[in-house]
Amino acid sequence: MLLPRPTRLIREAGHFALGPATGVHAPDEIADLLRELITPATGLPLPPATGPATGVISLRLAADDAELGAEGYRLAVEPTGVRVVAATEAGLRWAVQTLRQLLPEQVYATGPVRAVAWWLPCVEIVDVPTYAWRGSLLDVARWCHPLPFLYRYVDLLALHKLNTLHLHLTDDQGWRFEVRRFPRLTEIGGFRAASPAGHARDGRTDAVPHGGWYRQSDLRDLVTYAARRGVRIMPEIDLPGHAQAAIAAYPEFGNDPHRRLTVGTTWGISTHVLNLEPATFAAVCDIMDEVADVFPFEYLHVGGDEVPTAEWAASPAAGARAAELGLSRVADLQGWWTGQLATHLAGRGRRIGVWDELLDRAVPAGATVFAWRGTDRVDAARAAGLPVVAAPYTHTYFDWAEADGPDEPLAIAGVLPLEQVYGYQPGAVLGVQGQLWSEYLPTPQLVQWRAFPRLAALAEVGWSGPVDLDGQGEVPPGTLTEFRTRLGRHLRRLDQLGVGYRPLT
Ligand code: ACM
Repeated sequence: MLLPRPTRLIREAGHFALGPATGVHAPDEIADLLRELITPATGLPLPPATGPATGVISLRLAADDAELGAEGYRLAVEPTGVRVVAATEAGLRWAVQTLRQLLPEQVYATGPVRAVAWWLPCVEIVDVPTYAWRGSLLDVARWCHPLPFLYRYVDLLALHKLNTLHLHLTDDQGWRFEVRRFPRLTEIGGFRAASPAGHARDGRTDAVPHGGWYRQSDLRDLVTYAARRGVRIMPEIDLPGHAQAAIAAYPEFGNDPHRRLTVGTTWGISTHVLNLEPATFAAVCDIMDEVADVFPFEYLHVGGDEVPTAEWAASPAAGARAAELGLSRVADLQGWWTGQLATHLAGRGRRIGVWDELLDRAVPAGATVFAWRGTDRVDAARAAGLPVVAAPYTHTYFDWAEADGPDEPLAIAGVLPLEQVYGYQPGAVLGVQGQLWSEYLPTPQLVQWRAFPRLAALAEVGWSGPVDLDGQGEVPPGTLTEFRTRLGRHLRRLDQLGVGYRPLT
């Protein structure tokens, strides 16, 4: 009943019973993680193993096991103990998650649970992910979700063997990343006067201020916590569009320094974008340097979606810059500008992620394309020979409603049912990612309602690989029934954690 489904699993007779004397033999960090995840509910101390290798949970590195790759593991539960090997610590971390799933679901309870037999069924598992990138975007710009929820969300990603949290930190309606050199980005850009009431297309606002931002030190701690669970955090600073909050804070970043903008109070695409002057570019480099100092992950996302170019077209300076570069369209300045930024960050050993709009405006060398505007954009990025993370709205936008109906909370759009996620065929890509844009997800409760169970389905696509479809391009009924049965059991784990997911229908 594992989710995501492992590559190979053989169930054998018998079980291994965990008890107060069960010891652990593992690298320190891995043993600590095992205790952190298993001791609170079970009360088992899982001390370092000292005696003979029976009654022991052993997790060890075997660098020569090439089949296991960067994240795979082998796991054997026998009546006498547990043996896990992996080529990397990442593999051992995923094995810890599997061991936890093999225990009764009460192991996910946050406090001690009595009268449960903490037995692991005897199994032999070989488990290697299909895709290297298994991500989840969380938009904390539209609504500044509380820091404790980010920790919980990391836990939920790790539980599903999702390895990347894409944190969308800035947008027209809010800037959430503390920048020491430009404090007004959060002091001014972190707060807005109002938010849409109801759907943005109705044009009403609520006059309720909203704001907040994250300290660098808090984000560093979050990064450390996530890394111990095998989750990398990729920050996104959306540039040079979706930047109205930044321009409200620093009018000189905009295309008319005399215009005073406010932080956005409606959803949608602001027409106000960064200017392309050297001073603004230098400021962006300073900002990204601070971002890079907080987030050690190789990838930094620099946005690039939905960048209106009317302000550049009206700007003599931008026109002169385009002419000087021999660009026939001012829109192509975006590709040039992003390329400069990629070069700057490459100097710090970093790669960039960009949204698929850059495909039309020159993708910088070394960039990874996040293809969101449908599966044909995934195909286009792949055809261009670029690394691509598949994030098409048709299959991975979990801010869309899961179903129609009067009981469904207000959503940006709809409908994206569970079966469509499960049937997604990403093809030859770096990986997949589920998006939780937060315009209509103002609370952690709503984030979780929209995320689950669809993110669990995408986690399985990413780890176990896409399912075989039938002649009609549908998930065959038997495959779907097996998944839904397993998912039903899996949701009991989320019940223990108090995750308010959308129930299966
Ligand atoms: C996007 O949904 N604008 C990437």
